[in-house]
Amino acid sequence: MAYDQTRFNADGTIELPLVRSPQNQACLNCHQQPGWKKRGANYRARTDVHLRAGLRCVDCHPAGSAVTDPRISGREEHQIAKGDDPGGLVRNDLDNTMVDCNDCHQSGRLGAPLAKHRGMPPIHLERIACQTCHIPERDVMPI
Ligand code: HEC
Ligand code: HEC
Ligand code: HEC
Ligand code: HEC
Repeated sequence: MAYDQTRFNADGTIELPLVRSPQNQACLNCHQQPGWKKRGANYRARTDVHLRAGLRCVDCHPAGSAVTDPRISGREEHQIAKGDDPGGLVRNDLDNTMVDCNDCHQSGRLGAPLAKHRGMPPIHLERIACQTCHIPERDVMPI
C-alpha cells in the first residue's frame, strides 16, 4: 500500500470530505449500471426536467430524519425512501415512503411550479397518475 502523503496533514491525520447529503453521482455509481431496471437510464439532464433543474436524488428519495413517513422518520434506520416501481421488488415494506409529485407541485417546494392544469377535466387527475402523462417514454436499455 502506497499512501499519497500530500493528502495528509503534517501530523499524519486526515480531513475526510464528509457532505451533509450525497451528490447524485454517489448514488449513480451503483444505480446507473443496471440503469434500465433501476431508473438510472432516464436520469440524464437531456431527458429529465428535474435533473436539468439541479434536483438531487435525495430531494425525492430522502433518508433518515429527512423523511416524513413514520416507517423511516425518527428511527434513524438509515433507509432510503422509495416508491413502488414494479421493475424491482426490493423492500416492499417501504413502498411509497418517498416525496411524491404533489408534495412539491402543490406547495411550490424547492421552487416547483404549481400544477394548475387549467381547463383539464378533474377526472383526469383523480384517475390517472401524473407519470402517465409526464413520462412519455422511458429508456429500457442502457444507451
Ligand atoms: C454501494 C452501492 C449503492 C449506492 C452508493 C446506493 N445504492 Fe441504492 N441500492 C443499492 C442496492 C444493491 C439496492 C438493493 C436493490 C437491488 O438489489 O437491486 C439499492 C436499493 C435502493 C432503493 C430501493 C430499490 C427497490 O427497488 O426497493 C432506492 C430507492 C435506492 N437504492 C436509492 C438510492 C439513492 C437515492 C442513493 C444515493 C443517496 C443510493 N441508492 C446509493 C446500491 C446502492
Ligand atoms: C423528481 C423526483 C425524483 C428524483 C430527483 C429521483 N427520483 Fe428515483 N424515483 C422517483 C419516482 C417517482 C420513482 C418511481 C416510484 C414508483 O413507480 O412508484 C422512482 C424510483 C426509483 C427507484 C426504484 C425504486 C422505487 O423507488 O420504486 C430507484 C432505485 C431510484 N428511483 C433511484 C434514483 C436515483 C439514484 C436518483 C438520482 C440520480 C433518483 N432516483 C432521482 C422520483 C425521483
Ligand atoms: C422534490 C420536489 C419535486 C418533486 C417530488 C417532483 N418535482 Fe417536478 N419539478 C420540481 C421543480 C423544482 C421543478 C422546476 C424545474 C425548472 O425550474 O425547470 C419541476 C418541474 C416539473 C415539470 C416541468 C414544469 C414546467 O412548467 O416546465 C413537470 C411536468 C414536473 N416537474 C412533473 C413532476 C412529476 C410528474 C413528479 C412526480 C413523478 C414530480 N414532478 C415530482 C420539483 C419536484
Ligand atoms: C391527463 C394528463 C395529465 C395528468 C394526469 C397530469 N398532467 Fe400535468 N400537465 C399536463 C399537460 C397537458 C400540461 C400542460 C398544460 C399547459 O401547457 O397549459 C401539464 C402541466 C403540468 C405542469 C406545469 C405547470 C402547468 O400547470 O402548466 C406541472 C408542474 C404538472 N403538469 C404536474 C403534474 C402533476 C404533479 C400531476 C399529478 C398530480 C400531473 N401533472 C398530472 C397533463 C397531465
